[in-house]
Amino acid sequence: MDPILVLGGTGKTGKRVVSRLEEQGVSARVGARQTGFDWLDESTWDRALAGVKAVFVVPLDGTTLTRAFVDKAVANGVERVVLLSGRGVDNPEYGSDTNATGLTHVEGEKAVRELEIPWTILRPGWFAQNFSEGFFAPAVQAGELRLPAGGGGVTFVDAQDIADVAVAALTEDKHAGEIYELSGPQAVTMAEAAEAISAAGGRQVRYVPLTVDEFVAESIRDGWPPQDAADFAEVVSAIERGLEDHVSDGVDRALGRAPRDFKTFANTTTW
Ligand SMILES: NC(=O)c1ccc[n+]([C@@H]2O[C@H](COP(=O)([O-])OP(=O)(O)OC[C@H]3O[C@@H](n4cnc5c(N)ncnc54)[C@H](OP(=O)(O)O)[C@@H]3O)[C@@H](O)[C@H]2O)c1
Repeated sequence: MDPILVLGGTGKTGKRVVSRLEEQGVSARVGARQTGFDWLDESTWDRALAGVKAVFVVPLDGTTLTRAFVDKAVANGVERVVLLSGRGVDNPEYGSDTNATGLTHVEGEKAVRELEIPWTILRPGWFAQNFSEGFFAPAVQAGELRLPAGGGGVTFVDAQDIADVAVAALTEDKHAGEIYELSGPQAVTMAEAAEAISAAGGRQVRYVPLTVDEFVAESIRDGWPPQDAADFAEVVSAIERGLEDHVSDGVDRALGRAPRDFKTFANTTTW
């Protein structure tokens, strides 16, 4: 069987897609710099695409390279594309077309929707694994989540659910043309997330709400470039503005089952 190319195949989502495909006996090819695929070096793309019929595209945030890549994929004989995007990409309140990551997803979705081969778009909300493998992990390890999220709730989605939907879309015909918004089954506040992680990990983690200005000042003191600090504060403050607390039905629509909840994620993670 032709291999499926999984870009970002060493990252939070992609590595779970690779494992699931392999469990199903489907050959997966990891597309990441350590396997010779570099988004920023187009001369590496053909080799990654050779003999591939389906691709999971984890885009490179801050760039608009998705169009060039998917066009090349089709020229190389790829017959199905599944794109990882982000929830909120179609909501002007996020300012998605003015920040670099938002633009990556807006432009990437446009390019994929214009393809003449079957495609599926996944729009996950915040990943639960941000706490264990992503940008909140150092704060969890330090015991204090200092963020401008107020008391807002987030329907964190488990990266395993995202991967399961991706695998279904990569291997089954019925997901063609679907846009799946993905979330967990209920909203949890940052304080509740910290509590669940503390209970599961046996070590105290607390949430300290900051104002946006406090967060930006602290981040700059910690060595962040000011623009990055402002951009991240903007993204996190969407939580306080109530943009992240709704439940999306994509896991159920794609897989016919409920998504995993945050407590299950916390209890099955090594902290
Ligand atoms: N985290 C969230 O809450 C969230 C929510 C919604 C959407 N998203 C979207 O999810 C995507 C990220 O997915 P993820 O969290 O699964 O990935 P991730 O854990 O951030 O990992 C990034 C992956 O991309 C690869 N990579 C980085 N730079 C590369 C380059 N120049 N060339 C080739 N590969 C490169 C990395 O591998 P190497 O370093 O080995 O090359 C790694 O496999 C982003 O587009 C983000 O906007 C995230």
